[in-house]
Amino acid sequence: MSVKQIKENIYWVGAIDWDRVIFDEIIPLPEGTSYNAYLVKGSEKTAIIDTVEPHRGEELIKNLETLKVEKLDYIISNHAEQDHSGMIPEILKLYPEAKVVTNKKCKQMLIDHLHIEEEKFIVIDDKETLSLGDKTLQFFLAPWVHWPETMFTYAVEDKVLFPCDFLGSHIATSELFDTSDENKAKIYLEAKRYYATIMMPFRKFIVKYLQLIDQLKPEIIAPSHGVVMKEPEWILNNYKIWVSEEVKPLILIPFVSMHESTRIMVEFLARKLSDFGVAVRPYNVMTADIGNIAMDLVDAAAVVFATPAILAGAHPSIISLAYLANGLRPKVKFASAIGSYGWSATATVKHIQQNLSSLKAEWIEEVMVKGAPSDSDFERLENLAKTLAEKVKSVATLPLS
Ligand code: FEO
Repeated sequence: MSVKQIKENIYWVGAIDWDRVIFDEIIPLPEGTSYNAYLVKGSEKTAIIDTVEPHRGEELIKNLETLKVEKLDYIISNHAEQDHSGMIPEILKLYPEAKVVTNKKCKQMLIDHLHIEEEKFIVIDDKETLSLGDKTLQFFLAPWVHWPETMFTYAVEDKVLFPCDFLGSHIATSELFDTSDENKAKIYLEAKRYYATIMMPFRKFIVKYLQLIDQLKPEIIAPSHGVVMKEPEWILNNYKIWVSEEVKPLILIPFVSMHESTRIMVEFLARKLSDFGVAVRPYNVMTADIGNIAMDLVDAAAVVFATPAILAGAHPSIISLAYLANGLRPKVKFASAIGSYGWSATATVKHIQQNLSSLKAEWIEEVMVKGAPSDSDFERLENLAKTLAEKVKSVATLPLS
């Protein structure tokens, strides 16, 4: 995509990855993604804020040529992950006089990952400023959104915040500023998916960064993926809900079924939960998009893992999902398990619980069934549905949509 102006002498110069389908070999990208780099031209100095993923590097270089950037003084590195830092070595070759401006931790990571020479760096600290003449850049260390070296850059006079990954969304679009009501539904989903899969484990840290941004009062938020937002309060308010302890009356049932018994139990439980007045989403983990499951984990009140017994434990695909949910640290309040077994269920339930050590959820007694469910097993499932529905309704304060 060609250069876009953000404000006078501030330009988007990044790259779009229209058909990238997965990130970090784990996060599905249904809308592709972008790597947003920004050029800030002051009256005396010029800086680029972050770069792009190297396989889209030609687009960044073309954009710098379009703007006739003959001299580059600073390369600001907000984050060392290669989708933003990967082109720094190439940019340094094109502009050998440029210095890489970043914090101490990020500098070491850039040396480790990209072998950038020590003398190329200017190290800044929290709240430090850098003058470009008539424009000032200010840096705010923001560790753990989502690496330990992350920071934000703020264009002080123009009130543009560059928070790198934070507040981003994986969307490939030529309409960089399209936050129209029509487009907001898509942006909401992709921003939530992004939060769920990348930022959710760090929600305790995020609370203080939202407060910092409230104090800065930026007019524009320009993250390193997805759309640039001219209504910062919209994304900030959504984040405030996501990081809060509030949940929806929603219960997820990730499931695997080998010979239909577990599926029959899932469908019965789902029907009963719905009858008892709570929303329910069963996900067959063999085919489900894990980004969708992660998105629902952002504000679901409960999760029930459904699995047959196999290999002296739970099905590996359910364990993989439980491991992921544990790592994402959602705010679910209740957890349980259901499933079918041939000769022993104890190891199956323990196997799931062992993979949920980070979840601060109350465990509701599981329903494991020998073989196919009988009438008494359906009664037990109905009791589980009743208990879960009552508990979920007692804590859910967010509306479903
Ligand atoms: Fe978009 Fe953490 O990289």
